[in-house]
Amino acid sequence: MNRNITLLQKLEQNRSLSKEEFMEIIGNFDQDDLTYARERAREIREKIYGKAIFIRGLIELTSYCACDCLYCGIRSGNMNAKRYRLTKEEVLECCKKGYDLGFRTYVVQGGEDPYFTDEILVDMIQEIKKSYPDCALTLSLGERSHDSYEKLYDAGADRYLLRHETAMPEHYRKLHPKGEELSVRLAHINDLKKIGYAVGTGFMVGSPFQTPECLAMDMLLLKELNPEMVGIGPFVPHHDSEFRDYPSGSVDLTLMMLSLIRLMLPESLIPATTSLGTVDGKGREKGILSGANVVMPNLSPKDVRSKYLLYDNKAFTGSEAAESLSMLKSNMFDIGFHVVVDRGDPAAVK
Ligand code: 5AD
Repeated sequence: MNRNITLLQKLEQNRSLSKEEFMEIIGNFDQDDLTYARERAREIREKIYGKAIFIRGLIELTSYCACDCLYCGIRSGNMNAKRYRLTKEEVLECCKKGYDLGFRTYVVQGGEDPYFTDEILVDMIQEIKKSYPDCALTLSLGERSHDSYEKLYDAGADRYLLRHETAMPEHYRKLHPKGEELSVRLAHINDLKKIGYAVGTGFMVGSPFQTPECLAMDMLLLKELNPEMVGIGPFVPHHDSEFRDYPSGSVDLTLMMLSLIRLMLPESLIPATTSLGTVDGKGREKGILSGANVVMPNLSPKDVRSKYLLYDNKAFTGSEAAESLSMLKSNMFDIGFHVVVDRGDPAAVK
């Protein structure tokens, strides 16, 4: 039998592989391997989550960012980036719109913006949770202090997304300006877990200087962290970033990584990301068919969507837009799935 199929079977059985084994598959797979991985990932996802697709309403709070990540369009050094901040009232307006559409999880995401003090965020979180007690609230606001994570958790935030971006320290240094260390990022992720958040981490596929070894290390790190959520998507260049001339990450490689993650962490909540939908018009559907079970339509006020540009051509119209949920529902229905009105909490680990 084909060696990769043997490895995929081993991954399904043991829920882990060695670094060398991951590198073998990731570095060299064909369409048959991809099909096999996808079929197994779909079956495993279905056993746990059925045909349900969870939706999250993404509210992009601020495009100000103190960080200067070399891949990102809203990095502080990009003088051409358009900056905005939402008020509490605007965020609550988004929540209302989302609730009426059937969203039961809000994801408040933004750059690392010092304007949003704990005081401002605690007030916002409390108000969201008071108004929508049956909804889960996810934060994705980058690195903050331990004290801050605790205050926001106590105010009612349930989940936190903080991607590790890459599991190799040298690679991490190549993607971030001088002085930023993977070890610090990992300490933050562990801190969030300890406080009690359901945690999401993840990485970009095809970021500059990434090798199969980096992706194998990403898998081993995910295994170790065992996060409730895993967000991955292809790197997409931004014309005003250091990496403007690098190509986008491969769709097939992203799909293979999605399937590998589902095989390794069967209960995890995995979005088919906007970046995947950006590089391939059918990317989100392909992501779902490869093992993902979450989509995160854009619930931000329409006039700010074109300002939260992490990469070029970011999709925020059509089925990426929360108000076009019916389109997303029918796209999902066409491939055999259904969007549910549900918080979409992590499945209890068996
Ligand atoms: N391409 C793809 N993903 C990107 N992100 C930031 N910039 C890009 C890009 N150019 C991802 C990062 C970050 C998440 C919010 O968006 O992984 O954690």
